[in-house]
Amino acid sequence: MEEKRQAFFLAATALLDWWKDAARPLPWRTSRTLYSTVVSEFMLQQTRVAMAIPYFHRWMERLPTLSAAAAAEPSTILLLWSGLGYYARARNLHHLCQVLASLPTIPVEPAVWQRFPGVGPYTATAILSLAGLMDAIPLDGNGLRILARLVAAQGSFANRSALERSLRPMADLLRIPGRCGAVGEALMDLGSSICLPAKPRCEICPIRPWCQLAGRPKEMPAPLPIRPRRREIIHRVWICDGAVLWLQRPMSGRLRHVFELPEIPSTAINRRSNSVLLQGMRTIGSVIYREIIYDGQNWPTMDQWQAVAIPELNSIPISGPHRRWIRTILERESELSPKN
Ligand code: ADE
Repeated sequence: MEEKRQAFFLAATALLDWWKDAARPLPWRTSRTLYSTVVSEFMLQQTRVAMAIPYFHRWMERLPTLSAAAAAEPSTILLLWSGLGYYARARNLHHLCQVLASLPTIPVEPAVWQRFPGVGPYTATAILSLAGLMDAIPLDGNGLRILARLVAAQGSFANRSALERSLRPMADLLRIPGRCGAVGEALMDLGSSICLPAKPRCEICPIRPWCQLAGRPKEMPAPLPIRPRRREIIHRVWICDGAVLWLQRPMSGRLRHVFELPEIPSTAINRRSNSVLLQGMRTIGSVIYREIIYDGQNWPTMDQWQAVAIPELNSIPISGPHRRWIRTILERESELSPKN
């Protein structure tokens, strides 16, 4: 055991040595605070790093402190989040900022953080260790893959948390007191540049001497099972007179307060008279939605729908896919309309 402990310590040291020069210059890593860590970790829950960067800049410019975020209107939060998807995350982040701002001290136990909505085991560990409040290594997908290779983990795992549970003792051996967040982020960067999923570049890997699968990338642990996906179709209408566009905003549920094109029941569609303007695909959780947008000229509007002036569309929260589809249809219509 002592030998193994020694080997892991050397591997963690070599990893940090490599990372000194190789760390990605990500905005949440410069002048890190608990608040900037909370915001970035929430953004990165379902979003790739490159996509999260501009959102993070915009958020921090508008709401530079925890108290500013706690005091913000929900509509400001949703607008800043608009396009990142999974809007429950934005509401949970806002709620968390309000709770943290009201507490006399910041809790440092992961179990306490996991009681906040939207904070799972990974996010709790990541926030606490990256903010320097706890010595544990956060293991995202990259970290799990690297550790699984490092120890040539055998067998298949029912899900990510089963794999995490089996690898946690190894992650604990990589702990360097006071540097656990850095080790975690170094693993993230190693996984995104060298220990790649399909073609790991073992020849330049800084922890190759300690890796049981080095140079044998074909013998990787079985990938995690893919979550089953369900398919659904949603029908929507486009009602626009050139000055206003009709939108709906659900009062409850996942997309509460976020505008989208109005949904109509499939029974209301007369396929001959309602031409299709656009079909879009989006995935939410394990469901793949095909959304069909019909031309709704002369369509009756509903009380709960809202007419929004076209120039206002940029200043209200609209879900990312719908903002894209609306832009596409508006551009298409402006190309078709006679120029004056
Ligand atoms: N994914 C989650 N947290 C991250 C971080 N701090 N850096 C890069 N990718 C991440």
